[in-house]
Amino acid sequence: MSMNYRSVAIDGPAGAGKSTLARKLAEKLGFLYVDTGAIYRTVALAVLRAGLDPSDEAGTGGLLGGLDLKMAYGGDGVQRMYLAGEDVSAAIREHQISGVASKVSAIPAVRAFLLDYQRRLAREGSVVMDGRDIGTVVLPDADVKIFLTAAPEARARRRLLELEQRGRSADYETVLQDIRDRDYSDEHRPIAPLKRAEDAALLDTTSLNLEQSLEALLSMVKEKIT
Ligand code: DC
Repeated sequence: MSMNYRSVAIDGPAGAGKSTLARKLAEKLGFLYVDTGAIYRTVALAVLRAGLDPSDEAGTGGLLGGLDLKMAYGGDGVQRMYLAGEDVSAAIREHQISGVASKVSAIPAVRAFLLDYQRRLAREGSVVMDGRDIGTVVLPDADVKIFLTAAPEARARRRLLELEQRGRSADYETVLQDIRDRDYSDEHRPIAPLKRAEDAALLDTTSLNLEQSLEALLSMVKEKIT
C-alpha cells in the first residue's frame, strides 16, 4: 500500500448503518468511498442473469473470467456499478439480490477475484471502504479499523424504513428473519467470515441516531488520522 494514501476500514453486519456512515465520513475526510457490498451484489446479479444457481461454485467460478464489471463515480460523487456496460446500481438493491449476494460471497473463487480488485482501489487513493472483511482480509494494514454493529431488531427497523421510503412493502418479521439468516451465513462461512478484527474499534449504533453515530465515528478516526 502506498505510504501517501490513507485507508479507513469499516466492517459490520447488514443494516448497522455502514454505507450511509461510511459515505458521510468519506465526504468529511475527502476520501473515496468504496461500498464493497455493491461489488458482491453486482456479481450476484450476473449469476442470476446467467440463470445459474448461486450455490453452484463451479458455474459461478466459470462466469468470473468473462465478467464485465465496472465501478465508477458519477458527477454527484456517488458510486455506480456497471455490468456489461449497463448501469445496475438500482437493480442490485432489489431485495432478492441480498440473499444471492450472501451466497456468492461465500464462494472462494469470487472472494479471490474481488480481493485484487478492492486492494487496487486502495492503492490508487485514500479510501473509506466498507464491507465484511475489509479490516481482516482486504486491508489488514488500514490506518483505522472500525467494527460497526447494532442489535438485529434495530437493524430490521432501519431496513424496513429504507424499503418503505423506496415504496416497497415488507413486514418486520420477514426483514428481521432475513437479517438473522444473513448474519448467520456471513459469520459462519469458512472463508473471510464477518468478524471484528482484533485491532478494530467497536461502535454499536443500536441507540444512536445518524448524527450521533457519525460524530462517534469521526472522533474515532481523528484519534488515528490527524
Ligand atoms: O453490505 P451488503 O448488504 O451490500 O452486502 C451484500 C453481501 O455481500 C453480504 O451478504 C455479504 C457480502 N459481502 C462480503 O462478503 N464481503 C464484503 N466485503 C462485502 C459484502
